[in-house]
Amino acid sequence: MWRVRPLASLRPLLAGRPGWPPARAASSTNISAFMPEAAAFAGVRDYPALKQLSLRQAERFWEALARARLSWISPFHTVSDCDLARGSIRWFEGGRLNVSVNCIDRHVHTSPDKVALIWERDEPGAEVKITYRHLLEVTCRVANTLKRQGVRKGDRVTIYMPASPIAVASMLACARIGAVHTVVFAGFSAEALADRIQDAQSETVITTNQAVRGGRIIELKKTVDQAVKMCPSVKRVLVAKRTENEVPMSNIDIPLEEEMMREEAVCDPVAMESEDLLFLLYTSGSTGKPKGMVHTQAGYLLYTSLTHRYVFDYRDGDVFGCVADIGWITGHSYVVYGPLCNGGTTVLFESTPVYPNPGRYWEMVERLKINQFYGAPTAIRLLLKYGDEWVKSHDRSSLKILGSVGEPINSEAWDWYYRVVGDGRCPVVDTWWQTETGGICIAPCPAERDAEIIPAMVMRPFFGIDPVLMDDQGRRLMGNNTAGSLCIAQPWPGMARTIYNDHDRFITTYFKPYPNHFFTGDGAYRSEKGYYRITGRLDDVINVSGHRLGTAEIEGAVNQHRVVAESAAIGCAHEIKGEASYVFIVLKDGVDMTEHVIREELKGIVSQKIAKYAVPDYIQIVKRLPKTRSGKIMRRVLRKIVERKLDELGDLTTLDDHTAIQEIVAGHKEMLKKEAKE
Ligand code: PRX
Repeated sequence: MWRVRPLASLRPLLAGRPGWPPARAASSTNISAFMPEAAAFAGVRDYPALKQLSLRQAERFWEALARARLSWISPFHTVSDCDLARGSIRWFEGGRLNVSVNCIDRHVHTSPDKVALIWERDEPGAEVKITYRHLLEVTCRVANTLKRQGVRKGDRVTIYMPASPIAVASMLACARIGAVHTVVFAGFSAEALADRIQDAQSETVITTNQAVRGGRIIELKKTVDQAVKMCPSVKRVLVAKRTENEVPMSNIDIPLEEEMMREEAVCDPVAMESEDLLFLLYTSGSTGKPKGMVHTQAGYLLYTSLTHRYVFDYRDGDVFGCVADIGWITGHSYVVYGPLCNGGTTVLFESTPVYPNPGRYWEMVERLKINQFYGAPTAIRLLLKYGDEWVKSHDRSSLKILGSVGEPINSEAWDWYYRVVGDGRCPVVDTWWQTETGGICIAPCPAERDAEIIPAMVMRPFFGIDPVLMDDQGRRLMGNNTAGSLCIAQPWPGMARTIYNDHDRFITTYFKPYPNHFFTGDGAYRSEKGYYRITGRLDDVINVSGHRLGTAEIEGAVNQHRVVAESAAIGCAHEIKGEASYVFIVLKDGVDMTEHVIREELKGIVSQKIAKYAVPDYIQIVKRLPKTRSGKIMRRVLRKIVERKLDELGDLTTLDDHTAIQEIVAGHKEMLKKEAKE
């Protein structure tokens, strides 16, 4: 894990700097220029008053925004009906709308030739621009293809595709006909894909023949073929062509483009209830089974569009460049739904930060004239190692805001991002949120007046978000300069509604730990001035290169190897990835393989069961694991050993066998020595 600089040395930036805050920010007299809907709130004249209203009169706030910002087929009658104790969250009931109409049709009416998507293909300089008119046409053709194949409202459709216009059109086509999409990151293995298809009981999968990334061909369809063999629910696989290469097609495979071209380019949108399902997105939790987080229609769309507009100060005509993959929530909310709902121009990034060289992002910024760039700290940490020249040789004058997401950004990376990439000109917004929150919850929000930004802090809650910190006893920590478990005290429209097929787990995970609050699973610190800093996960979830991973998932995979008796996975600090996974293995008796072979096979099994990014960086073979007398593995002890904080092992009175620790410490040192030699 990265440590930020001691708080004393964090300097407030931006506030008071000439030209900042920008003149367009909210002032005491022009709050309605800042947010037109605010004109409806008599007496609200400045930003703090608007923020207070969003918390104290949340229903009034969200009602005005939902009516003004979304296009409804029929209006809602109830703003919200939430009971956090039961995990029951309902917004804008009675209302009917279609998300694809909000993201496409209404912009086709006003500006059909405006560019909706810029597909930044793997090959630099080969971008493809898709207008709103074109996006509508493609979406309708895919929607009609799905309908012809028998896909109906409520059916789940698994999308396993790299970022591309056809992938976005597939998501929106589902939304148009009321199907529920579940995008699976195209880096997941066949088994991980199969688990997700089965949990969702999808009959339809959409994929591409191959993918192209970093100049390499990836056999995507082959992975789908393997997954589908394990999934009796699948009746059809629609295959789009990313390359001209032929791939084997079976009797359930349908060439998507060929079918689409036979369909009409218009498709009536289905009127969806606000609380009908829009999508499932699987994410890791503290058990071995990923959770299918459920997001619904109106609340999610409103929240992503509002956060996109205000956190990034997105203006009409701006080019928004979020480089996340569509397989993660960041791709859903800030590549697809937020920007398109706002009628924006959004970049779909297919490549990697270092292809064909470490200047890729900045060359793209120059070529596409990107105004807001939104990426992950892991990439920033990687790029800063290559030096400033890769950045400075490109014109970045189009940039206005730089965003960071997914994991803590350490001070060094923050400084480099701000000073080198942004030339000390662009506010850096470190945005905290989760798959569960649907959109950004805590961020500097630079559209705000006098927005002070402190490096490596996520700063302030967004409108309607009421963060609270809790102590170990479940008591709310009042006042500032305090740290605890981060909860959110009142519901907001973007939050997840349930875990697919497992509402009990939803309640247990998020609402039981602190009654009447949403528990995030993260720890946070609140500074003297009331600003927030995220201190990391409190559960057995680790964050590898900004990707969430349950340690139980890793253990579940390695335990399937025939030589493994038991295992324990933990997260450990990694210079580039933020966190890496470190796995301790106890072997069964009589194993006669070399340690090297065992390690390689275990890495292979994790890659096969989960994904390449989940492969452990360290595998230490031990005789026994530190356990309590009741047999529970003491991961806290393992973490301290790996952090080399032996004087912080804490209370060991429950430890069963003290010799286990000495052995592990010695083995750890030995392993590092060997690694250094290699
Ligand atoms: O631990 C927090 C970390 O990522 C988790 C959410 O992961 P996921 O659902 O995959 O969504 C990632 C993209 C929103 C959080 O519980 N996290 C996310 N953003 C930050 C962060 N940690 C520190 N600072 C952040 N800005």
